Amino acid sequence: MKIVEATDYKDMSRKAANVISAQVILFPRSVLGLATGSTPLGIYRQLIDWYRKGDVDFSGVSSVNLDEYCKLSPENPQSYHYYMKENFFRHININPKKTFVPNGLAEDIDAECRRYDKLIGDLGGIDLQLLGLGNTGHIGFNEPDESFDKTTHQVALKQKTISDNSRFFKSIDEVPKFAVTMGIKAIMQAKKILLVVSGDKKSEILEKTLYGPVTPAVPASILQLHPNVTVVADRSAMKAVHEKHPAKGAAL
Ligand code: F6R
Repeated sequence: MKIVEATDYKDMSRKAANVISAQVILFPRSVLGLATGSTPLGIYRQLIDWYRKGDVDFSGVSSVNLDEYCKLSPENPQSYHYYMKENFFRHININPKKTFVPNGLAEDIDAECRRYDKLIGDLGGIDLQLLGLGNTGHIGFNEPDESFDKTTHQVALKQKTISDNSRFFKSIDEVPKFAVTMGIKAIMQAKKILLVVSGDKKSEILEKTLYGPVTPAVPASILQLHPNVTVVADRSAMKAVHEKHPAKGAAL
């Protein structure tokens, strides 16, 4: 695991965007696994800027998103379809037909999960998977204590995740209680993983992710077993790492 410490959110965004743009420049037909949430917004803004300047070309890229809420239509501004379109896809030259997000409206959610796994397989797997870190230690919507062995599946969101995500909704009652998420197994099959973390609120869970036991109680801890993970975290997110592992911190 490579840990890159950034000074602040802006620096984290730039460094992570550099990793993604290098992937696309070196491998123009890459399959990117993408995430939503607050953390990647600065990365998407940076990539849009570099695209506009002619530095990076997304025309050959395919993308698969990690997750989507159940029962929100793609036109709903809180849906992850909408988020991706507004914050990234419509500003770059990616082919919309090659951008994929799970369908949270599917009548038969199990069939949708199988379709999504097959789609990832048909694309040849994910070359670079971008991940944010939830306050519960979730990646995608893989909440604590779920099996590491799952592929795409439906999840009941934990109360903590519902309350964390309520900041994007008018009221907490509007936050969907279920989502479809790529499973840990699918995430672990990505060839490379880029985990981005910002802010002191994530500091304790980041320390557990990086140096705690590998356990379903902290889903992101499984990343310790992946052969190619880059973590880009800002200084405030690295606080607990520095406090609890001064030797490791000094080596950064
Ligand atoms: C988003 C996702 C989630 C978020 C995580 C962190 O597609 O899968 O795992 O990455 O909840 O969210 P933020 O960045 O808003 O703190």
